[in-house]
Formats: sequence, C-alpha cells, structure tokens
Amino acid sequence: MTLGQRFVRFATDVVVRHPALWRIFRGPIRRQFDRLAPRWESIRGPDFLAPLEAALDLLPAPPQRVLDVGTGTGAAARLAGARYPEADVVGIDVADRMVDEARRLTESTRVTYRVADAERLPFDDASFDLVTLNNMIPFFDELARVTAPGGHVAIAFSLGDRTPIYVPPERTIAELARRGFTHVASFRRDPGISLLARKGDHS
Ligand SMILES: C[S@@+](CC[C@H](N)C(=O)[O-])C[C@H]1O[C@@H](n2cnc3c(N)ncnc32)[C@H](O)[C@@H]1O
Repeated sequence: MTLGQRFVRFATDVVVRHPALWRIFRGPIRRQFDRLAPRWESIRGPDFLAPLEAALDLLPAPPQRVLDVGTGTGAAARLAGARYPEADVVGIDVADRMVDEARRLTESTRVTYRVADAERLPFDDASFDLVTLNNMIPFFDELARVTAPGGHVAIAFSLGDRTPIYVPPERTIAELARRGFTHVASFRRDPGISLLARKGDHS
C-alpha cells in the first residue's frame, strides 16, 4: 500500500472504533480524494463492483430510494440507477471534485449527487430502502438512522482485506446487529467481499 492508502486504512480503523475522531481525518481525507478524482476512473480494477453486485442480487425486491455513501465518481450510484429503473438514487461524497466527476459521468436524471459527510447525512430518518457502500468507511449510526425499517444495507470491499478502506465482516455484522440489522448473507468475489444486512421492521 502507498503511504496515502496506509493513512486511509489507519483512519478507517480509528473512525470505526471512535466515530467522533473523524473530525481529525476529514480534511486530509477529503483533500486526498479531491486530488485523486480526475484519475479515479482509471485506477480502479475492472471488476471492482462485482462484490457489491453479488449482494444486490439477493435483494428480495427492487428498492425505490437508494443512497450510495462515499460515491466517489458515482459508479455504484449509476449501477443502482441502471439495475432499478424505478428508483431515485442519490450519491454523496465529502470530496467535491469527486462529486463533480460523478455528475459529469452520469446521464440519468434519476441519479443525483450531493457533497455531504457520511458522519452527518443531510436526510431524514428512514429515507432509503437501500443504502450502498463500496470501499467506504461505514458510519454505523447514520446508516441505521437513514435506512427505513425493512430496508437493506449492502457493504462491499472490492479487494477484500487488501482494500485500503476495509472493515472486517465480523466487525461490520456486529455493529449493524447492535443497531437492529440482521445479517442476510456474505459474499466472496475474489478478491472482493461484501455483505447484505436487513433492518428490522420495527427498529
Ligand atoms: C475509496 S473511495 C470509493 C469511491 C467509490 N465508492 C468507488 O467505489 O469507486 C472512498 C470515497 O469515500 C469518500 N469519503 C470518505 N469519507 C467520507 C465521508 N465521511 N463522507 C462522505 N464521503 C466520504 C471519499 O471522498 C472517496 O470518494
């Protein structure tokens, strides 16, 4: 891993344990991804969405309202827009240059983007029936808040434990369970992994 990637991994480890410390990492990470934005589409592997797609394949019904957190240049948001032709999809990212690129690359008017911080999402409680994260630091309290009862969260790391932003599945499952989610299934699309979790009907 490069120095920048090691820093992102360190930030992920700290923030998952202590989300309040995100304020220390926010500026450097935003600047790092702003710098990467013009090249982002060319530096990812070809199958980097395969683990996420494996999780989405198991959704019981097409979602109507989809949020992609840490959308980068919007690839997962566009994927959701294409898979779910009835859905409104919003991708958010803290790096405005990533959001600029995502807007430039997206044709569908049902797929929109906002500059926003996953630590404090600018959406009402229970706004989404699917929330996706591809190679993104999970802020579990906010994920739980914006996911509607009965809705799903799909979390993928396209290079498995070699992904710079990576949270071990057992940790992810435990954090989600604490907030009323049931683990539906885990997936392996070598080298990537993903999981799908469902929020309880009454949580
Ligand atoms: C590794 S990139 C993944 C981008 C995209 N999901 C993909 O798979 O191509 C992580 C993205 O998350 C964004 N990000 C990191 N922390 C964030 C936060 N707290 N709120 C919103 N976006 C964040 C970064 O700016 C970056 O664009």
